[in-house]
Amino acid sequence: MQIKLSSNSNEKTIQIGKIIGENLHAKDVVLLVGDLSAGKTTFTKGLGLGLGVKKVINSPTFTIVKEYQGSNYKLYHLDLYRLNGLGDDFDLEEYFESDGVVVIEWPHQIEELIPSNYLEVDIRRIDENNREITITSHGKYYEDLLQRLNLC
Ligand SMILES: Nc1ncnc2c1ncn2[C@@H]1O[C@H](COP(=O)(O)OP(=O)(O)OP(=O)(O)O)[C@@H](O)[C@H]1O
Ligand SMILES: [Mg+2]
Repeated sequence: MQIKLSSNSNEKTIQIGKIIGENLHAKDVVLLVGDLSAGKTTFTKGLGLGLGVKKVINSPTFTIVKEYQGSNYKLYHLDLYRLNGLGDDFDLEEYFESDGVVVIEWPHQIEELIPSNYLEVDIRRIDENNREITITSHGKYYEDLLQRLNLC
C-alpha cells in the first residue's frame, strides 16, 4: 500500500510524522529515503512527538545513532550517511532486536540487515517549502498500520 501526501511546511511534515509515531510499537522499523535536506530529520521530530519523546530530536550525523525515551518505547534514530560500509565495530542488528522503534536515515548501506517488513517514507523536495511524501508499506503488518491512519 502506498500513500502520497504533500507538505508545504516543516510543521506539516512534523504533523504527518506525529500521526505515524502515535501508531508505532516496539520493534517497528521506519526507513527514511530522500536527498540531503529533504526533511528526513524533520519527519523524525514528528515521529518522536507521536511516541512521546520529550527531548528535541536533532540530526545524529556525527554519532550515527541517538537514543530517545518515548512514553512507552525507546526511539533509536540512526543516520547512516557517514557509515563506511558494514564495519564490525558497530552492531546494527542489536537495534533491530531491541524493544524500541528504529528509524533510519540513509538505510541503503545496510540493505542486507534490514528486516523484510518495514515502513518506507520517501521525501522529495519540490521547492523551498514543498515536499512530496510517499509512504509505502512493506509487509502486511505495515499495510494494516497505514490503513488505520487518517492521513489524507
Ligand atoms: N515541507 C517541509 N518539510 C520538511 N522540511 C522542510 C520543508 N520545507 C522546508 N524544509 C526545510 O528543509 C530542511 C530539511 O532538513 P532535514 O534536516 O530535516 O533534512 P534531512 O533529509 O534530514 O537532511 P540530511 O540528509 O542532511 O540528514 C530544513 O531546513 C527545513 O526547514
Ligand atoms: Mg537528517
